[in-house]
Amino acid sequence: MLRELTAPSGLAAEVEEGLIKLPRSLPCKLFYDGAGSALFERITTLPEYYLTRLEHQILRERSSEIAETVDENVTLVELGAGTAAKTCTLLSAVAVRQKDVRYVPVDISKASLDEARARVSRQCPTVCVQPAAIDFMEGLEFLREIPGRKLIAYLGSSIGNFDPEARVGFLREIREEAAPGDCLLLGTDLAKDPDVLLPAYNDSRGVTAEFNKNILRHVNLEFSADFDLARFHHVAIWNAEELKIEMYLESTCAQTVNVRALHLVLPLAQGERIHTENSFKFTQPTLSAMFIAAGFLLDRTWTDQKRWYAVHLARV
Ligand code: AVJ
Repeated sequence: MLRELTAPSGLAAEVEEGLIKLPRSLPCKLFYDGAGSALFERITTLPEYYLTRLEHQILRERSSEIAETVDENVTLVELGAGTAAKTCTLLSAVAVRQKDVRYVPVDISKASLDEARARVSRQCPTVCVQPAAIDFMEGLEFLREIPGRKLIAYLGSSIGNFDPEARVGFLREIREEAAPGDCLLLGTDLAKDPDVLLPAYNDSRGVTAEFNKNILRHVNLEFSADFDLARFHHVAIWNAEELKIEMYLESTCAQTVNVRALHLVLPLAQGERIHTENSFKFTQPTLSAMFIAAGFLLDRTWTDQKRWYAVHLARV
């Protein structure tokens, strides 16, 4: 099917502004088209990408403690649930303590939600799954409509994609839509030796490079652009002042890129970078500042033995 030359205006404006303003950038949500989501799934299985593995391990080891810490009769609401690969351990632990467990996986991708539902009915057949195909970045009002006590999970260190102010804004919105007694379960990657961090974002198999470049393929499809992926180089750097990994696509030559749907002609110098993602890493001080600013009371934190990754339970 032919694509229309005009894409949805909000995203178009965002892409246009990012590409025109110097230094150039693209919104990281553009990573996750079908191909990008599949590449991210592959990243989570890489030996260098410890985040998913450690989070899953923490959830496996601590899910009964987590279930004991939250009130009885909670509904688990998972923002960005994807295919719910690591949620079943938690659901099983909750199911031990209460007989009617409700699970509301929230995701933009209907395909992922179908997989999530199938997985949960297989692995935790007593859990009642009520998927919500929602772009929760556009608003969290739907949280209000979910009855009863809620445990709201936001895992995978996705919170690390927000700037410090935006992350507080997002958590504050969750808190405002939640009710007193509701809980937040948040996964965060912790600051550590760049010798560990950098390979996680620049793996030896080049999957992260492919994931990063796929954003250009997505822009090509969505905005009729002619980015040549072979003329860009994947770059990941550690910003020690701001405690974040920054990802870029670096132009390997002087070139001109056309973005037809946006009527843009972009001159790129050799070595010029397009910023594609920030992945913030947390410390004790940045974590407590965040929870305090967002109005949450941090109740418990669980980490792995090396203290590379943390899962937090905070209360409204
Ligand atoms: C899904 C945002 C948590 O920042 O580690 C993985 C995305 N980018 N490799 C991350 C990502 C490059 C990932 N998050």
